[in-house]
Amino acid sequence: MNASSPSPAQNQASTATLYGGVVNRRVTVRDLAAAKQRGEKWSMLTAYDALTAGVFDEAGTPVLLVGDSAGNCHLGYETTVPVTMDQMVMLAAAVVRGTKRAMVVADLPFGAYQESPAQAMHNAARLMKEAGVGAVKLEGGERSARAIELLVEAGVPVMAHVGLTPQSVHALGGYPVQGRGDEAAHQLLRDAKAVQQAGAFAVVLEAVPAELARQVTEQLAVPTVGIGAGADCDAQVLVWTDFAGMTAGRVPKFVKQYADLRAVLGDAARAFAEDVRGGAFPAPEHTFH
Ligand code: KIV
Repeated sequence: MNASSPSPAQNQASTATLYGGVVNRRVTVRDLAAAKQRGEKWSMLTAYDALTAGVFDEAGTPVLLVGDSAGNCHLGYETTVPVTMDQMVMLAAAVVRGTKRAMVVADLPFGAYQESPAQAMHNAARLMKEAGVGAVKLEGGERSARAIELLVEAGVPVMAHVGLTPQSVHALGGYPVQGRGDEAAHQLLRDAKAVQQAGAFAVVLEAVPAELARQVTEQLAVPTVGIGAGADCDAQVLVWTDFAGMTAGRVPKFVKQYADLRAVLGDAARAFAEDVRGGAFPAPEHTFH
């Protein structure tokens, strides 16, 4: 068998259902391309640590994103801007160690790829060699196309991210919906086509009107991954702390909350404190003699 011919296991898995399909290897870019071909939608969740990632992996989530949303959702910053490469490598390595099957994609954080394609390559190689991720993600359409091209030529699978790009929060003056109006919609379409042309294997569309996201999804050969981009994208991504109800305060309109972990953990912490105060913990069964 030569390097380009798939093994029997690869052949079998790329035709098996992607979501929760039992395979003995990680999900690859070929599986995601095949899913688009047969019209199978898939989910992606963020993860920032080995334990949470392991839960999602066991549940069959095919793609886990070590997003730089770790900045606001895990590390306590206000935005994603302060996140460093060293932090991303540490978090991504933990997610890779905690999983067996999911494709792990890690974000190149702000300042890690905008200087030059060579800088992008240097930092993508760190994520692949030091953390072991299967792909990297970076923000920007036409403006990031040269960097994507170099990474893809070098063998790095790249997920692109257009529409609302949170690393530009200060330039955008917040997190406004993107692609509204003719000119903005045309630019977004150009951005999506530019990253596909550069070799991206998938494109995140964030905070984009559903009608425009549908148009982009129809016109691209590679899968679109929506977040606040309506129901017609090929895949959907949510930030895990939002979807599991860990986030304090308001969450964006596009979030559906699937659990209330903040309340569950808060109740558990209060019950523990009460048991300690009242002497009910530790009980004899928790005690060595
Ligand atoms: O950093 C992140 O979690 C992301 C998703 C919101 C797509 O980029």
